[in-house]
Amino acid sequence: MAKTYYVTTPIYYVNDVPHIGHSYTTIAADVLARYHRAEGRDVHFLTGTDEHGIKIVKAAAERGVAPRELADEVVVQFVDLWRELNISHDDFIRTSEPRHERRVQELIRRLLARDQIYLGKYEGWYDEGQEEFVTESTARDHDYKSVITGKPLARYSEPSYFFRLARWVPALIEYIQAHANFVAPSARRNEVLSKLAAGVEDLSISRPLEKLGGWGVPMPNDPAHSVYVWIDALSNYVTALGIPPIGDGQDGARERFWPVDVHLIGKDILWFHSVYWPAMLMALELPLPKCIFAHGWWTSEGKKMSKSLGNFISRETIRAIAREYSRDVYRYFLLRQVPFGSDGDFSHEMLRRRYNGELANGIGNLLSRTVTMIDRYFDRTTPTPAPAAGSEGAEVRAAAEALATGAPEAMAACRFQTVLDGIGELTGATDRFIDATEPFKLAKDENPAARERLADILYTCAEAVRIALLYLRPFMPESADRGLAQLGNRENLAFVPCPRVWRHLFAGKLPCGGQKGALLLGEFEIHDFQPVTSGLDPGAPSVFRDVKTL
Ligand code: MSP
Repeated sequence: MAKTYYVTTPIYYVNDVPHIGHSYTTIAADVLARYHRAEGRDVHFLTGTDEHGIKIVKAAAERGVAPRELADEVVVQFVDLWRELNISHDDFIRTSEPRHERRVQELIRRLLARDQIYLGKYEGWYDEGQEEFVTESTARDHDYKSVITGKPLARYSEPSYFFRLARWVPALIEYIQAHANFVAPSARRNEVLSKLAAGVEDLSISRPLEKLGGWGVPMPNDPAHSVYVWIDALSNYVTALGIPPIGDGQDGARERFWPVDVHLIGKDILWFHSVYWPAMLMALELPLPKCIFAHGWWTSEGKKMSKSLGNFISRETIRAIAREYSRDVYRYFLLRQVPFGSDGDFSHEMLRRRYNGELANGIGNLLSRTVTMIDRYFDRTTPTPAPAAGSEGAEVRAAAEALATGAPEAMAACRFQTVLDGIGELTGATDRFIDATEPFKLAKDENPAARERLADILYTCAEAVRIALLYLRPFMPESADRGLAQLGNRENLAFVPCPRVWRHLFAGKLPCGGQKGALLLGEFEIHDFQPVTSGLDPGAPSVFRDVKTL
């Protein structure tokens, strides 16, 4: 059995519709899943929805529907968006499903049996938006308003079950210190460590079920209480794998995926993932995640996203972008624009610029040049280099090697931009190689030595394009496949067993019918990346290079 790889996204609340933020984490997880599948791993990619809790109860009440109706309605929007963005998740969990609810109860039973939970009384300030109790000092420092939403905090006093979180803090600090990649990026790790050092109290993990209109997972020992929504939600990462067993036919089926390779999350939910969740796992004697990676937040056109400002990147906006460019381009842009971990700004201008510069005039143009020359000069057959050939194009080969050797480490550290940069460098090196060797001039020379050199040059270009596209494939699956199919042999589509190193191009007949841009296999087009000029002020000097032609 191949080595396993397990990646998760947060499960999204169903009180609001999906937007760029949700799509960001999910696309990043999809890229990791596709990359590791291509590497031959046994991959499990989990996403889903977080459906319990006061937020959902309130949102449903505002719309005059039951929480389950709201959840059923909104979940479709997430499922649809993931289909529209070509997300390849293996499972979609809803916390309202019996397979989840029953396992949450079993986890609580185990914690109770281990004396990790006790009944106490909670009195304090509660941030209803965040569904979190706030310490007295934090409440005071923020004028008894929510740090996140600015809304007034509510005073709560109620019996509550507590998880002995404080007990686990020393072990947790030690663990985070000993495992450099456990919380990433490192700046986030330091934040967590300093907050832990400031002291942590036991965690209230139940709410009176009546306050939630019965919408929650009842505490197994005391059904008048419902399990705190964060404990319920975090458990999804194991319940979806059939952990713990409850006798419903899913027990242990996917146990091999635990511990998770990476929980991808936004920076706002780091505390829950890096403190509550590992402490709970320690208390359950389950292995801890290998990595919790917190990414940054998106603003839009330079401002915080808001529906009233009109810069909200909703599902409709995402669809419009996919219509104008393609869903692959949207995926590419999000992971190319900023290093994963940093905050980013989405702007239509920047999207168009990157599309034109890096895709249309970059890899798209290189593919087009290469295929057109092979088409013209070698009767549509990818040339095989002569055994002695290969003395030229050292820079191209070096760029390909650098990409292939650097990618595993970059992907392991979620440095998506590094891989995309590597693709850009390989493309650039190959473009320069074509400009320097001028194959279009060489083609006029009939003597055998010149033909051999031409064959070698075009082989080098085709091989470079193949390798660039194989690495682009997790990010832009459809475009990369179309490009790879242009190279003359369907074998070139395979990442494994086809190695991603030099000289593994399967030479063959180009599938295009003799003229540039002809359709191949019915659905593939060469003109996948054409520069977009619509919307440009015609009077303004163009910031884009013209598409290079031969
Ligand atoms: N339900 C919880 C997660 C439970 S996981 C066990 C939750 N859901 S959420 O729907 O509110 O948010 C999910 C994710 O969206 C978070 O990771 C958050 O960081 C992300 N984003 C929300 N707005 C965002 C941006 N503007 N930019 C990037 N990501 C942002 O939290």
